[in-house]
Amino acid sequence: MRPLERFIDELPGITEGASDRLLQYLCVVQNRYSHVSSTAVQLLSERLHIPPVQILAVVDFYTFLHRQPRGDFDIRFSDNITDRMLGSGPLFKRMCENLKVKPGQPRADERVSVDLTSCTGICDQGPALLVNGLVISRLNQERVDKMVGLIEAGTPVSDWPESFFLVEDNIQRQDKLLSREFVSGDALETLVLKGNDDLLGWLHDSDLRGRGGAGFKTATKWRMCRDAPADKRYVVCNADEGEPGTFKDRVLLSSYADCIFEGMTLCAGIVGAKQGFIYLRGEYLYLRTALEQTLQKRRDANRLGNNILGQQGFDFDIEIHLGAGAYICGEESALIESLEGKRGIPRNRPPFPVTSGYRNFPTVVNNVETFVAAARIAALGADWFRSSGTKVSSGTKLLSVSGDCARPGIYEYPYGVSVRQVLEDCGASDAQAVQVSGAAGATIPAREFDRKIAFEDIPTGGSFMIFNQQRDLLEMVQNFTRFFSHESCGFCTPCRVGGALMQDLVEKVMVGHATRYDLQEMKNIGQVMQETAHCGLGVTAPNSVLDTLDKFPDIYSKRLVNRSFEPAFDLDASLEVSRRITGRDDEGAHIRHEK
Ligand SMILES: Cc1cc2nc3c(=O)[nH]c(=O)nc-3n(C[C@H](O)[C@H](O)[C@H](O)COP(=O)(O)O)c2cc1C
Ligand code: SF4
Repeated sequence: MRPLERFIDELPGITEGASDRLLQYLCVVQNRYSHVSSTAVQLLSERLHIPPVQILAVVDFYTFLHRQPRGDFDIRFSDNITDRMLGSGPLFKRMCENLKVKPGQPRADERVSVDLTSCTGICDQGPALLVNGLVISRLNQERVDKMVGLIEAGTPVSDWPESFFLVEDNIQRQDKLLSREFVSGDALETLVLKGNDDLLGWLHDSDLRGRGGAGFKTATKWRMCRDAPADKRYVVCNADEGEPGTFKDRVLLSSYADCIFEGMTLCAGIVGAKQGFIYLRGEYLYLRTALEQTLQKRRDANRLGNNILGQQGFDFDIEIHLGAGAYICGEESALIESLEGKRGIPRNRPPFPVTSGYRNFPTVVNNVETFVAAARIAALGADWFRSSGTKVSSGTKLLSVSGDCARPGIYEYPYGVSVRQVLEDCGASDAQAVQVSGAAGATIPAREFDRKIAFEDIPTGGSFMIFNQQRDLLEMVQNFTRFFSHESCGFCTPCRVGGALMQDLVEKVMVGHATRYDLQEMKNIGQVMQETAHCGLGVTAPNSVLDTLDKFPDIYSKRLVNRSFEPAFDLDASLEVSRRITGRDDEGAHIRHEK
């Protein structure tokens, strides 16, 4: 038997019915052979009974999978704006020059490839990169030069200095969730003692809302899943954490994993699920072994597996599912598609995952931090949780603070904390703006620093990137528009085309070729995207452009080709002509009808 064929036949559980595991198998093959060859595609197709074209579509969808070999040392520099602010650009150039590689292409000897990738979630310890999927933090010239030497000497990554791979938790402020010691099993014992209805009542009384961004009430979500008629239910922990500038889930996964799994098991007990998944972003591969060990400890302690805590029929286990570099897979329906081994294309909603999720069964999808909060509430009570925060936003929020400040890291605050307070605490004395909630979020100028982090004022998944007075905010906007253009799944036109046009226009401004007409065009495109895109990615993608056009108009106007130029072209008149010709009242409505 050929080695590749043997390798594929030895993949755990590879049978006709295992098509859901396709992405996991592809990751293993990519990792072993540095690409997914056409032979591998053929073999997987035969074993899993999936057409080769479908497998190729999956390979092409995920950034970390390739049809052509990558170098033995596959390097990807994190390209978030915070990495850039810490000097990743010159380090990337230095590495490419010293290794004599062209960005994005393997060197002729196939020993090394160097490329960029979206934010790796190490913004507090950047600049960062991935080498063969593993994180290297705190890059500087010395570290880059050492890496070049190790690569040229052919030293396997497993023999590289351990210090390269050090990622610290960097918790700068603890509050309710992080400060108290978590006693494994406490939440589940309360569940056994009080019963499902009482626990769901506690969760309801706590007013816990999802920490992943949208802020849906957790008790409502769990109740809907429990009450949906079905034979099976699933629990999914969303650990995709792809929003640029967000790294709080990384810390929870690294040091609070037992509490996350307790929250998932609690949810399973309440909704009646037997199987759970943690969807771990590919960039956090380095956390996988420790997570597996924590799962095993919980199995050994009868907190996972059959008859949990001796309760007949309380059966639940958790599987880790690895992502492969696709931001869109954080969107819950795209995540479910990916869990099923497919491309991460967001589904039409409704139906929502709570009634029709994984394999079309009712599924709870929650953020990592939400499960931690739920486990704490079960152990310590709703009043304990509600005693922090505001009327509308109970409890605390973890913030991932990065950018221009003395003490980047994780800050846990009661909801209602002002932007100004966070800036003071992290040592940011010269802030011009804060980008809250990542590339998809809001740009907060200095005059709004008294606003509060809360669902009723500035809601956030947790990203808090600071820009001082010397920064050019247009570089931030450029970085974000590139990010969205790259991460668009391509399914719908407003996002696929609008995102690319927006990127072009921002670059046109950047190089000083834009006019006022281009700025108006950016507003128009942004509006169409917000109104007509199929999912949250496309809806939020223009936010940074629209926000900065509104709040920081100078960063655009000072670059215009002819500042006194006013568009000779009258947009409203032109739209009116178009309406008369096409007979359509409104272009946005037309696009909506097509959907
Ligand atoms: C493009 C996009 C990316 C997202 N990425 C994440 C993510 O990385 N983690 C997350 O928890 N939620 C993410 N979400 C939100 C999820 O769709 C979903 O609302 C969330 O996982 C629900 O959990 P929660 O109720 O605990 O917040 C994303 C949404 C969109 C539109
Ligand atoms: S909005 Fe973008 S990411 Fe979402 S479905 Fe459309 S193309 Fe895909």
